[in-house]
Amino acid sequence: MAAVRICGDTHGGLSRRPRPHIRLPSPHLQGSVWAMTELWVLGPDNWSAWRALRLTALAEAPYAFGSTLAEWQGDGDREERWRARLGMRGSHNVIAVLEGRPVGMASGVPAEEPDTAELISMWVGPRARGRGVGDRLIGEIERWAHQRHARKLMLSVMPDNPAALALYERHGFTATDKLGDLLPDGERRELVLAKTLAYDADSLTSRQASRQARPSPTA
Ligand SMILES: CC(C)(COP(=O)(O)OP(=O)(O)OC[C@H]1O[C@@H](n2cnc3c(N)ncnc32)[C@H](O)[C@@H]1OP(=O)(O)O)[C@@H](O)C(=O)NCCC(=O)NCCS
Repeated sequence: MAAVRICGDTHGGLSRRPRPHIRLPSPHLQGSVWAMTELWVLGPDNWSAWRALRLTALAEAPYAFGSTLAEWQGDGDREERWRARLGMRGSHNVIAVLEGRPVGMASGVPAEEPDTAELISMWVGPRARGRGVGDRLIGEIERWAHQRHARKLMLSVMPDNPAALALYERHGFTATDKLGDLLPDGERRELVLAKTLAYDADSLTSRQASRQARPSPTA
């Protein structure tokens, strides 16, 4: 996980400001919302910033998530729990900051399947929707998945979430035959989408090298 530098900031519940993770943009994107969106990678010490956005997301879009606001409030709302969430092994937790305000979030986590990463906790606040923030977040999780040599990026989405489905389809995710979690109605399930990640010849070579460099389980 990228190191974060802490300095004072009080925007949107952020008491600590992680260093912007990515320097953008390519010149043709200058001036667009893409260029104006900063991505901050959060670690456990930034739990309060993640908490503020995640609670807002669960309250604003309960239809979109398997987790509920109730599960993360009251007894469920504890610093060590938020820290543990951000400290999840191999996770990459990102918030999008537009015009100085946190407006979106997403995580990449290792999936149970080998060589597979999963995109979770995707949310863009209503006022920032339709401006490409979702694209930025997906792009960053895809970049991270590439970096860790995942072959596939998968995600689960509610079947009645057209905005999310449109975004994911636009990014090349397609339906799989994997069964998603059962929904509260006991009949429908989450849809599981996946995208195969492409590697050029050079990165395949480095992927093979990194696999060969891994210690064998018996070593
Ligand atoms: C799904 C979500 C992340 C999309 O983020 P975004 O930054 O608005 O993404 P985009 O700008 O690419 O818009 C995606 C789709 O949302 C719809 N959309 C566009 N503008 C919108 C707006 N102002 N308000 C609502 N939906 C809008 C469009 O269908 C668009 O698809 P299209 O561009 O192919 O027509 C965001 O709507 C969101 O956080 N929703 C609630 C939480 C959620 O559904 N999370 C996903 C869990 S799997």
